[in-house]
Amino acid sequence: MLQLGCRSKAPKAPCCEVNPHPLLLYLYIPRVHKMTDTPLPQGIELTPLNDSFREDPYPVLSRLRSEAPVLEDTELKRFIYSRHDDVKAVLRDPDMWSDPRKANPGTFTREFLGQSMTEDEEPSMLLMDEPDHRRLRSLVSHSFTPKAVEKWRPRTREVVARILDNIKEDEFDLILDFAGPVPTVVIAEILGIDPDKHDSFKQWSDQAVVAAFNPFPTEEQVAARDEANTKLWNFFDAEIKSRRNHLGTDLISDMIRAELDGDKLTVEEMIRQSNLLLIAGNVTTTDLIGNGVKALLDNPDQWQKLKDDPSLIENAIEEMLRFDSPVVNSGRIANRQIDIGGCPVHQGESLNTSLAAANHDPDIYPEPARFNIEREDTHHQSFGGGRHLCLGAHLARLEAQEAILGLMSRFPDLGHSPKGHTYHSIPSFRGMSHFWVKTT
Ligand code: HEM
Repeated sequence: MLQLGCRSKAPKAPCCEVNPHPLLLYLYIPRVHKMTDTPLPQGIELTPLNDSFREDPYPVLSRLRSEAPVLEDTELKRFIYSRHDDVKAVLRDPDMWSDPRKANPGTFTREFLGQSMTEDEEPSMLLMDEPDHRRLRSLVSHSFTPKAVEKWRPRTREVVARILDNIKEDEFDLILDFAGPVPTVVIAEILGIDPDKHDSFKQWSDQAVVAAFNPFPTEEQVAARDEANTKLWNFFDAEIKSRRNHLGTDLISDMIRAELDGDKLTVEEMIRQSNLLLIAGNVTTTDLIGNGVKALLDNPDQWQKLKDDPSLIENAIEEMLRFDSPVVNSGRIANRQIDIGGCPVHQGESLNTSLAAANHDPDIYPEPARFNIEREDTHHQSFGGGRHLCLGAHLARLEAQEAILGLMSRFPDLGHSPKGHTYHSIPSFRGMSHFWVKTT
């Protein structure tokens, strides 16, 4: 398998310089011939900006996993890992870097995430390395433990019921009318934002996300992102100032109070964290609810099973996360020469882990393309892993559980509408911008 690990469309990928055993070569050659018939996709073809990948990425990801489990994407200058165990090994390696400024010039992470960052700028937690990352994460992580998050369940249930109350038509857009508002309202309430401001809050956060995760944003998208970021920054700045004199039970108040060994968050750090929570938690959770409901409606036997036994909800949400992950890839930067999956890569290379491919690895999950809410082993890579494991994982789970249970009890006969659905094209994410459903 060694040489299968590193394939690229480039005629001589440096990582393919291996000396396989003659027996391996014998086994390998016929497959190379078969594989080179249709070149493996690269670059933009492996993002939702490509129509067919956007509609259904799984056949291509499955090809990558079996033909080039570590693919050198010479177009976007990154290595893509698609086997479950390799993805896990990259994400859980405690020494890998996340700060894009440490990536080699010209590589995907450096160009796409690092270019707009100045040398003295403090990145968000997601792109931060130790020891700063540990410090920042420990100052806010107590608000996201399973116990701390559980206290938001009654409020989340109320938010879901309120949003469902506004749905008056027999046919509605599940994303715009339901899955979109739920996480925005919940995170806004957690941060203690006035309900009157929820709409602008959502609009700015959506605009910030569209360009933030797109390696090829249009000029308009960049302008809209910059404007939205400035508005969000000023908004959080004002919220923090006004909250100082009236501390409450919300997360901004918690951040103001947070103190660890005499250490406190600066105003700038609080603004960055609030921004990150908003950006990291909105589109992702909307996509989880949307993809999850779609999987249920596409598989009526599973929908029926959940209606018959709502206690299956926790396992069902884990299976939704595995089956159609809202975040399809994450990444790290090699801090040294490493050899994961039989492909040596050098320090400073961009390593892209395909969470969606890992979650469908047949070596780990029997019948990976089958959506089964009673699957026994539903562990998955959808929240990443290691030091940067999603901070909001418990909150996302709770929101999705409450959203889907609420929807199911309000509209037990929910079904697809002939108006269909449209996938959005935000790179690294998988979800829908519209998903029409009928209540009868
Ligand atoms: C279904 C919903 C969600 C999914 C699929 C998701 C997925 C992810 C992934 C893949 C990462 C990167 C992990 C890595 O590279 O190892 C991440 C990081 C993060 N997520 Fe989430 N996320 C979701 C919801 C949320 C929510 C609701 C919040 C907070 C309100 C949140 C906050 C964060 C933060 C702060 C990080 C950075 C953690 C760090 O760098 O230490 N996420 N998430």
